Amino acid sequence: MAYCSKCLLHSMAILVFITIVQSSQAYLRNENGVKTAVFLSRKFLMEPGSVSDKYFYNIDFPRGHIGLKSFDAEVIDEAGNSIPLHETYLHHWLFVRYYQRKHNGSDVAKYHGDLGLDGPDFVVVKNSGVCDYGLIQYFGLGSETRRTSTYMPDPYGIEVGNLEDIPSGFEERWMLNVHAIDSRGVEDRMGCTECRCDLYNVTVDDYDQPLPPDYNGGLRCCYDETRCRVRQGFLGVKRSLHLKYTVKYVDWYTSIVPVKIYILDVTDIWTMADESRGIKSRHRCQIEYEVPSCAVDAGNDYCTHTKSLHVSLPIGGDVIYGVAHQHAGGIGSALYGEDGRVICSSNPMYGEGNEPGNEAGYIVGMSTCYPRPGSVKISSGETLTLVSNYSNAQRHTGVMGLFYILVAGSSQPNTVVHAPAEVHQARMIRLSVWGVALFGVAIILVVISAFQCRIRKEEGYEAIVM
Ligand SMILES: *[C@@H]1O[C@H](CO)[C@@H](O)[C@H](O)[C@H]1NC(C)=O
Ligand SMILES: *[C@@H]1O[C@H](CO)[C@@H](O)[C@H](O)[C@H]1NC(C)=O
Ligand SMILES: *[C@@H]1O[C@H](CO)[C@@H](O)[C@H](O)[C@H]1NC(C)=O
Repeated sequence: MAYCSKCLLHSMAILVFITIVQSSQAYLRNENGVKTAVFLSRKFLMEPGSVSDKYFYNIDFPRGHIGLKSFDAEVIDEAGNSIPLHETYLHHWLFVRYYQRKHNGSDVAKYHGDLGLDGPDFVVVKNSGVCDYGLIQYFGLGSETRRTSTYMPDPYGIEVGNLEDIPSGFEERWMLNVHAIDSRGVEDRMGCTECRCDLYNVTVDDYDQPLPPDYNGGLRCCYDETRCRVRQGFLGVKRSLHLKYTVKYVDWYTSIVPVKIYILDVTDIWTMADESRGIKSRHRCQIEYEVPSCAVDAGNDYCTHTKSLHVSLPIGGDVIYGVAHQHAGGIGSALYGEDGRVICSSNPMYGEGNEPGNEAGYIVGMSTCYPRPGSVKISSGETLTLVSNYSNAQRHTGVMGLFYILVAGSSQPNTVVHAPAEVHQARMIRLSVWGVALFGVAIILVVISAFQCRIRKEEGYEAIVM
């Protein structure tokens, strides 16, 4: 029987589809039940020089009692193209976890105060870090996102969605904050990404507070709807962008070892507790700082600016992951234990080209630490030292020196923990039911297309659409 080529293609496409479906099943199985969910944020509009600092509440996020394994993100346009940092600089994105009272019509109208999540209808679930204000996110990064690993090895996971933790009458939700700067056609790209106040022509911050004269740059000058100076006559299209975020997770089971998230900030002003006078310890994290140029920083021959912090964590444990967050100009960061041992050292990777993920002059990735479980421990109350180095061959404003560590509460035995057999089996059964169903559908499609093919041949034409 003569078989028309279009129909043959059609049948082959279906077979390829079956193969893909089956290989993603294999992937699911091989990855020990790790699921991948990809979402797009609501859109934000950007044009040359513009700043968007948006807070998206109740975003799409995996639901249920799960263990989070990784968070990855990138900025894309409406056609799905990756946008390079020299067009839209991703200052930061971050996820905040919160509980909101159910069936309450009041919505979040503003993002001042505690990110708009204040009042009796909201409970913000902060990470385990020590900062009194700010840095409450579960996770977040900036320009380094595309090439920074965030994956948590087995048997670890960040536990969320446990109904036992959620106050009755509330439900768990997530907020996404995306801060982006469109630097197409701007006069000074580095200056705009460093939020230099003179380029933004602002004299008051987002709360209408006058900026101190010695405040040269930082988030208080590049808030939502501000505009960085663009070269005269430059024209660029306004466009809608999204943050595409990929969350990997597993359904929670009892052998997952939960980890705590600590965010340390090198600008933390720590005042120690004085129990005899009833004074609690305070951590005023400034989030950003300024690096003066070495030309004015006398006695610094190598033009390296070092900032350090001594801090301690209330609860110790095994470090299973670490990464620093620095801005352009950063040349490395490390966390040390009280005895001087290196807990984690994390260094920036700079891009060298034009394409997304490799933009010259930008930090496109940070190296991460995955110590062998049990090999790097922090004791509770141990004094840690955080060091953040920047090159100060030139001045930098609004830089950051954060360090994320994930810590498992207690030492784990060396056994590798897998999903319990019944969970695994249930998943396999579900998968094979799907597999049979899909295979059946595919066979039917092949038969139909072969049949249509014959009919069309008999009618004397070939289908053009496939
Ligand atoms: C939502 O909760 C707030 C505070 O508890 C209350 O004042 C308000 O009336 C509630 N709104 C609705 C629609 O229930
Ligand atoms: C800067 O802002 C002032 C008012 O705040 C305005 O008069 C001036 O034109 C602005 N300059 C530029 C270059 O946009
Ligand atoms: C920071 O810079 C100082 C001075 O150059 C150097 O001794 C130290 O090793 C650097 N630390 C890191 C983490 O890069």
